Formats: sequence, C-alpha cells, structure tokens
Amino acid sequence: MKGIILAGGLGTRLHPLTLAMSKHLLPVYDKPMIYYPLSTLMLAKVRDILMISTEQDVEKYRKLLGDGHQFGVNLSYAVQASPDGIAQAFLIGKEFIGEESCVLILGDNIFYGSNFTSKLLRAGRNADLGQATIFGYYVKHPERFGVVEYDDNGQVVSIEEKPRKPKSNYAVVGLYFYPAGAAEMAGRVEPSPRGELEITSMNEMYLKAGKLNVEILGRGNAWMDVGTVESLSDASMFIRMVEQRQGIQISAPEEIAYRYKWISKEELIKSANRYGNTSYGAHLRAVAEGKMNW
Ligand code: TTP
Repeated sequence: MKGIILAGGLGTRLHPLTLAMSKHLLPVYDKPMIYYPLSTLMLAKVRDILMISTEQDVEKYRKLLGDGHQFGVNLSYAVQASPDGIAQAFLIGKEFIGEESCVLILGDNIFYGSNFTSKLLRAGRNADLGQATIFGYYVKHPERFGVVEYDDNGQVVSIEEKPRKPKSNYAVVGLYFYPAGAAEMAGRVEPSPRGELEITSMNEMYLKAGKLNVEILGRGNAWMDVGTVESLSDASMFIRMVEQRQGIQISAPEEIAYRYKWISKEELIKSANRYGNTSYGAHLRAVAEGKMNW
C-alpha cells in the first residue's frame, strides 16, 4: 500500500502565521505539524510515502524529512501548483501509486486514541481487498464538514459536503483508504462549482459502486484538523497535556519506526542525538534504553 500526505493549500485562515510559512511546518506543541500525519501513515504500516506540497514549500519538507531513512520509510516529493482539491492528490500521485492500494491523509489532521492503529490496519487490509474506508468522528457542528450517514450495519447510506441539514453528527475526517485504481477514479471526478476536485465526489463514486466502508472513531479518540488559530492552539494544549502528564510522545515517527523494527537501536540513538537535549530527544533515548515499554 502507498501513502500520500497532502500538505499544500494556502492556509488563509491562519494568516499572518502562514504568510511566509507553510501551515504544516508550524509547531503543534513540540514538533512540526507534519510529524503527526506522517506518524499516522507509519502506524498504518505504510512505508512508501509521497509528500505533496506547494512549489515554494516542497524544499522545506525535503530539508526537514529528507528521504525518510531515519524513520525507516521512503519519502518522495511532488508539487501541487494550486489547491484544486483533495482528489487531485491521486492525479499528482498516479505514477507513484502504480497498481497498488493507497491511503491519503491531509497534512493538518491529527489523530490520537485507543485502538486507532488496529482501525488503520483494518482499513489497509480492506483496501487490499478492494474496499474503500473513510472515518467518521462525532462532532457538535457537522454542517462545517463532509458528513457521513450510516445504517445499523455500519453501511454508508450517504455522504454530503457541508450540508445545511446534516443527516448525522459524523464528520468525515481527512484520512481516506482506497483500493488499487484510485487515480483512475479521481480522473473521473468533475470539478465542483467552487472549481475543486472534491474528495466527497470520489467517495460518492465508491459508495455507488458498493465499495465504501466507514470506520467510526469513538469516544476514546481525538481528531483535530488544525486549520485555525483556535484549533492550532487547542491541539498544542492537548498534546502538551497528554505528553507531560504521561511522560510520552504523541506521534514521534522515530519511535514508531523503532517499535515496528524498521530502524535499529543505533539508528534511534543517532536520531535522538540529532534532537539534542530536548524532551523529544530524551524520549527517544528512553525508548532506546527500553524504559518506555508500555
Ligand atoms: P483547507 O483547510 O481546506 O485549506 P487550506 O489549508 O489552504 O487553508 P485555508 O482554508 O485556511 O486557506 O485544506 C485542508 C488540508 O488539505 C490542508 O492540510 C491543506 C490540504 N489541501 C491541499 O494540500 N490541497 C488542496 O487542494 C486542498 C483543497 C487542501
């Protein structure tokens, strides 16, 4: 399975923070935002990852993340010239995806919670069996999101983009698993009235084909899309609170790589040293020393 992180866009709701800086490089407490979606793909055991960003920012991501070897993954890079819609990621990534299944995550989506990894792995298995999976998250104001309606058997009944009268409280989050052929499917999406290749249109195609599943992220899960100053600040506070109280790291890619045995202890220590005398570096050292085995 291939993975794509879509980290383009304009970030206008974060001005002036994003006038000279890419949104996904902004700090979410103690690490760049992009570490979080990268970690999510890694938790899903995806090791071939395409980073899509804007022309002016793509080199900054290359500088930060390189070829991914320190995380035990292969990272490649591509440009989205203008933010013409989420489904465009599959057209940009057509060659990269090849004949494989694919997972797409938006660069500003942060996930944390119990059993999340098993849900990711299940979605990956389903994609390899020809089924798409989206994730639903209960929100107070569903009208601000794509909304998924599902029946008692967990079958998707409808999906609607920012409906005035939502049929459920479940927002569709920025994480999508598709079987082989996602680029061809994206090629059939017509631009919406706002001129974008909408991911909702793509999901509707899978729904019509009887190939769309929804996985619900229940109460024990946190999902944050960090697109406004309020949500960015809230996410930082949340990460800080959990990390400080428990003495853990949320979404440290090197830790995930080590736990999955994609990198050696020596490589983990080398990364820890690269981060110097920070709490992040100290945490990686503690993982290497076997002090974080819970
Ligand atoms: P948005 O938050 O809709 O857009 P944005 O990041 O440009 O921000 P703003 O609304 O403040 O101008 O995008 C959600 C995520 O998807 C974000 O991480 C950027 C990414 N994205 C792209 O990279 N390309 C696109 O064409 C679209 C629509 C989104």
